[in-house]
Amino acid sequence: MNKVQSKLPAIMLCFIFVFITRSSFAQQTETNYDESKVPTYTLPSLLISQKGLEITSAKEWEHTRRKEILHLFEEQVYGKMPNKKIPIRFEITGTSAKALNGKATRKEITAHFGTNVNGPKMYILLYIPNERTKPAPAFVGFNFYGNHTIWNDPEISLARSWVSNNSNFNINENKATEASRGVRTSRWPLDKIIERGYALANVYYGDLDPDFDDGFQNGIHPLFYQKGQTKPAANEWGAIGAWAWGMGRVLDYLEQDKDINAKQVAVMGHSRIGKAALWAGATDTRFAVVISNNSGCGGAALSMRRYGETVGVINKAFPHWFCDHFNQYSNHENILPVDQHMLIALMAPRPVYIASAEEDRWADPKGEFLAGVYASPVYKLYNLKALEGYDMPGIHQPIMNTIGYHIRAGKHDVTTYDWERYMDFTGKFFR
Ligand code: GCU
Repeated sequence: MNKVQSKLPAIMLCFIFVFITRSSFAQQTETNYDESKVPTYTLPSLLISQKGLEITSAKEWEHTRRKEILHLFEEQVYGKMPNKKIPIRFEITGTSAKALNGKATRKEITAHFGTNVNGPKMYILLYIPNERTKPAPAFVGFNFYGNHTIWNDPEISLARSWVSNNSNFNINENKATEASRGVRTSRWPLDKIIERGYALANVYYGDLDPDFDDGFQNGIHPLFYQKGQTKPAANEWGAIGAWAWGMGRVLDYLEQDKDINAKQVAVMGHSRIGKAALWAGATDTRFAVVISNNSGCGGAALSMRRYGETVGVINKAFPHWFCDHFNQYSNHENILPVDQHMLIALMAPRPVYIASAEEDRWADPKGEFLAGVYASPVYKLYNLKALEGYDMPGIHQPIMNTIGYHIRAGKHDVTTYDWERYMDFTGKFFR
């Protein structure tokens, strides 16, 4: 045997190894945008209980199946929010009735979490229409770069928390400055919201948990650790859970504000914050309407379709968003005990609206629509018309049943078209 011959088995092993790792790597990284390559999947049943009983009434749904499903999402997907109560104090730090040329009242409210003066705080920016005869219905929405980015109003306080750098928005060194005032106005048509009689409560999501993987040392998580605990357990909340929790605390404040009708509050979120808005709506039934804008994987889109972003990809890119248990479904969506139609069903009988964008294939528009369709049997238990029997509508053809849906032209974003539909939809239910 010459030298090369003796090394042949090792060389071949090397080749096989490279081939296997490369093809499984390709499998994991190649994004599927081909409908014919969506695997056959069987969604976990919405209306069969864990004991195998068929759920046939709204009462059985509420008493048995809803609880089971909520528990599964807590344990396997988003992680449980803590039961522990911490002291929270709301302080109104500024009020002006002259905002938007006198059309609105602007309030700024600080929520102090815990008793440490240097502890985490959430800053609520609230605009309320002045022209009204009764307390105003409201939208709760979180923003990505600070309250000062949503409208060109020099009176809005700059974000104090860590913010993502973004050269388009002149944000460097993870710090908000005057230079990023109003850069996100296109996503928040505040004048139109006020004109239609709604209040808007806005918060920078990083106040609850800055959006990077730091092992949950900053933000609100540490406030809830048990003695000796340094990070959330595998079934405890990640960042999405913290943002959703914050949305509930905004509602706590709104319940105390006599200018707001807290029974008519819609929670709305885009993308990762859309995932949080859905989770807030599922865990806090005081939200009267829930709106998901392009929320995609881990939001409204069905995971088992593996179209666009997948569970494996999202868990790898954003390890801090979900609970650790969710990792076991990375590239194993078929064994998920829940899929996102069940999350939508948790809103029932409350109205929920799902919006997609045509070019946002990463978020799987069809998977978002189908989650609404497959959630519909629960609405039927309440005799409510949802999306059962509907085909995916064309561009700009909104459906406004108790589950609503639209797909608009354009990319991953929030536009005035989206907001107009949210106000049409919400207006149907808030009278
Ligand atoms: C990424 C991520 C999505 C998320 C989006 C966003 O694209 O993969 O899951 O929805 O960011 O929040 O804008």
